[in-house]
Amino acid sequence: MALVGTEKMFKMAYKGGYAIGAFNVNNMEITQGIVDAVAEEKAPLILQISRGARDYAKISYLLAIIDVAVKENPDIPIVTHLDHGDSFEVCKQFVDDGFTSVMIDASKLPLKENIRVTKQVVEYAHQHDVSVEAELGQLGGIEEDVVGIDDVSKHLTDPEEAVEFVEKSGCDSLAVACGTSHGAYKFKSEPKLAFDVIQKIADKLPGFPLVMHGSSSVLKEFKDLINKYGGKMPDAMGVPEEAIKRAAKMAVCKVNIDTDLRMALTAKIRQVFAEKPAEFDPRKYLGPGRDAIKEMVKHKLHILGCAGKAAECR
Ligand code: G3H
Ligand code: 13P
Ligand code: ZN
Repeated sequence: MALVGTEKMFKMAYKGGYAIGAFNVNNMEITQGIVDAVAEEKAPLILQISRGARDYAKISYLLAIIDVAVKENPDIPIVTHLDHGDSFEVCKQFVDDGFTSVMIDASKLPLKENIRVTKQVVEYAHQHDVSVEAELGQLGGIEEDVVGIDDVSKHLTDPEEAVEFVEKSGCDSLAVACGTSHGAYKFKSEPKLAFDVIQKIADKLPGFPLVMHGSSSVLKEFKDLINKYGGKMPDAMGVPEEAIKRAAKMAVCKVNIDTDLRMALTAKIRQVFAEKPAEFDPRKYLGPGRDAIKEMVKHKLHILGCAGKAAECR
């Protein structure tokens, strides 16, 4: 099975009331943990790479790792996706590098400009059979002025604008601001996502796939391990898994998860360092980190509802 685009995956996810997990990769261990999990659970997969990941690991290394993952798992449909591309040039680079999907995040720009840049990316990407995710509204944690739910709620996607945006830009999926934010410190108290916004957009754009960024749950198990072994993440709080389940049953077809991967890896590395201070072999701490990622991702695939759906998404 070669790499695939998002079209069939999103169609099946929409119809089936589930969402595809889009996991951020930065190195071999993270990639292996994720891919081993989807292979066991027979789930479709989106592997996404941020600009930061490319700067850290070099795109050629990441593509080579993904290439092996694809060859080793011929039954798993895998999308390679650029996460938060911030200009036409960056998106073009990833299209030229062979990615099957790109995100243009021009959400900081005024509506007209966002449409213009997104349309430019769509025109180029579609010539190469590459799908385009765009963003409307502002998510916390990346967009500078938006840091938490209090701010996030002021920047929710406007459903009317979403219709105009999708029609004029021609994008294939839309990341919406519905109360989530990036990173480990999303909320100060029990969060409430704007399901009404998701539903209103879905009513106006029937069948159109939506994307939920900032969807890590900041799992207690890993937060506790990190804090037990010398870390300091006391106020970390994420999106409850019940909320993810609910969104996945609605029009949300792609759910982005990075922080939960980072925390699983960090928790296990901290645990090994604390329990075995003489350890100096990276395989002895990266290995447990990779195992923790695998188990965590397996669990997420059931929350998203995409476990067992690989065959129908090919
Ligand atoms: O959306 C952001 C992702 O978590 C990627 O973060 O730019 O630090 O790689 P990064
Ligand atoms: P988290 O920080 O919640 O994992 O979100 C990741 C993300 O949205 C990547 O685009
Ligand atoms: Zn994001």
